[in-house]
Amino acid sequence: MSDQQSITRAGNPAKPHGEAGAEMLARMNESHAPVTAWALSHAHPAPDAAVLDIGCGGGATLRRLAELVPQGTLVGLDYSPLSVAETRYYNRDLVTAGVMQVMESSVEDIPFAPASFDLITTVESFYFWPAPQDNLREVRRVLRPGGTFLLVADIYDKPGLPEQALRNIEEYKLFNPSLLRLGGMLHRAGFRNIVLHTQPGTDWICAEAHA
Ligand SMILES: C[S@@+](CC[C@H](N)C(=O)[O-])C[C@H]1O[C@@H](n2cnc3c(N)ncnc32)[C@H](O)[C@@H]1O
Repeated sequence: MSDQQSITRAGNPAKPHGEAGAEMLARMNESHAPVTAWALSHAHPAPDAAVLDIGCGGGATLRRLAELVPQGTLVGLDYSPLSVAETRYYNRDLVTAGVMQVMESSVEDIPFAPASFDLITTVESFYFWPAPQDNLREVRRVLRPGGTFLLVADIYDKPGLPEQALRNIEEYKLFNPSLLRLGGMLHRAGFRNIVLHTQPGTDWICAEAHA
């Protein structure tokens, strides 16, 4: 097992904790940058949009999102106290300026009123959610009419996934639906105009869904 894999195992990507968790989150801020940049190219928020990132981890996605909404407001949500602390620190200028808040909470119960956000993102987190169908309904609840949800991962169920990806799915018990299944789940959760973007040469998925 590589050093990186040992750190990931000790840091627990499902709910990061401890020194290894902090190291892993810093690495993910870098390693998830390409899939995140690709996925966010599908988002076209108004400059003053209200944005939510679920499972914000080390905070790099929120920083990218802040560039898309220069007059907007941003919320990071994560049930790991370490992820909340790391995201706050990574974006401390934006937190201090009052444009970003980071909250410790699970996707199971998002502490906001219905229709609070114009854009909701989640990157490399969905596969850990405890009750994916119910959790998607909860995301739909807080999305405004006309708003966009982007569900992003670097794997989805398809033939020919690399061995390491298959090992990760087994070790971390990842929920890894096919395009067909994910599309159906989003529809049942109340989303419409669902587009499942994939990127040739990768196993990336960006599910774009609207309220
Ligand atoms: C693999 S990390 C990805 C972090 C970040 N989005 C990125 O792309 O680097 C997964 C994150 O999702 C969070 N997470 C997992 N299940 C969650 C849940 N039920 N509610 C909120 N956050 C959750 C974890 O705590 C962790 O910070």
